[in-house]
Amino acid sequence: MVGGGGREHALVRALARSSGNPRVVCAAGNAGIALDADCIPIVETDGPAVVRAAREVGADLVVIGPEAPLVAGVADALRAEGILTVGPGAAAARLEGSKAFSKEVMLAAGVPTARAATVTDVEAGMRAVEEFGLPVAVKADGLAAGKGVVVARTADEAREALEAMIERRAFGDAGAVVVVEEGLTGNEVSLLAVCAGQTVARFPAARDYKPIGEGNTGPNTGGMGSVSPVPDIPDDLADELVEAVHRPVLAELARRGIPFNGVLYAGLMMTPDGPKVLEFNCRFGDPETQALLPRLAEDPLALLTSVADGTLADRPVQVTPGACVAVILAAGGYPGTPRGGDVISGLEAAAETGAEVSHAGTARNEDGAFVTAGGRVLAVAQLGASIPDARAAAYAAAANITWEGMQMRRDIAAGL
Ligand code: AMP
Ligand code: GLY
Repeated sequence: MVGGGGREHALVRALARSSGNPRVVCAAGNAGIALDADCIPIVETDGPAVVRAAREVGADLVVIGPEAPLVAGVADALRAEGILTVGPGAAAARLEGSKAFSKEVMLAAGVPTARAATVTDVEAGMRAVEEFGLPVAVKADGLAAGKGVVVARTADEAREALEAMIERRAFGDAGAVVVVEEGLTGNEVSLLAVCAGQTVARFPAARDYKPIGEGNTGPNTGGMGSVSPVPDIPDDLADELVEAVHRPVLAELARRGIPFNGVLYAGLMMTPDGPKVLEFNCRFGDPETQALLPRLAEDPLALLTSVADGTLADRPVQVTPGACVAVILAAGGYPGTPRGGDVISGLEAAAETGAEVSHAGTARNEDGAFVTAGGRVLAVAQLGASIPDARAAAYAAAANITWEGMQMRRDIAAGL
């Protein structure tokens, strides 16, 4: 496993449940993942280093969790050495690594998405704002840890976002190019599918709660909680969405000679004019994965191996009935600069409830205690017979955990 966040912790745990009883090694992992897997220090985006590490541990399969190594071509480096890998190569990972490229592919593939303009200066951006009307979404082209999108309700907000990205480089070079997009309204859904070429196996729909504040207020984060299933996206609608979104995009990539073995994650908005794609990711979602994998009713290692070697069967992924809710516990200050080093209490009590606690941003202090070391610190996930059951159980487990400045949205999966 390449990565070191909550998603990778959930993947490590799922793989450990596989019937093949695999040895799981995580590069680089984190203090919490080290409870469940051997961790080896590594720079995740360093292809040759990942290849060396995979060789050293005799890896039969490498699963790449985060986007940065995928965009950097780490999957290409592994495949070039004949190592079975879950995760697309750099050419396909541009779907996530460049919002402008993703728009271009969607246009070519006839996939419904918001009207958009790609700009490199503030005035051109403001002309697009005028053309589309308010609100608009202002999006840094490149990777920005889920924070590179501002939904502007006024012209001043749009200008401020354009200036921050293009002139002040708030997201570094990721904001040198900006996509200005017409504002959409509707419910959001994350539809993830594992894909091998044009073979697609979708997961049930999931929902991520991106803003830091309850009622979806405040700045966007990497995600403050998740739930699966999503009542307004039943399985037959999810199947239709795969036909309208995933398959045409995979076909368009194939037409360009670009293979895709990995996870294609479509972030969709269900607008009054029908579903429209907000973004593609080329990996498992975080924190959607923490709510999806506990529901998996198939052997995780067999499933992921079939993605890597191309033997994947075209059908929905099998899941248990019921629901899963994951609640993120974040550090004080997040999504701004998070406080680090706060001692976390209640981890064992939370685990005793049977909840799955994934570590995203933790470290050990000199006394061996877990402390905060990142923005999103933990995910607490629990299964239930229904969404309200899973939600109640997840919050009951999370109630055991606390630290100075901890932030938790209390409305994850509320009303579903
Ligand atoms: P993205 O990273 O592109 O998915 O955007 C992050 C969040 O910004 C999404 O989850 C939406 O809540 C919001 N967003 C993105 N694009 C739009 C849009 N065109 N209209 C309204 N909200 C948007
Ligand atoms: N949950 C949003 C993402 O993984 O990008």
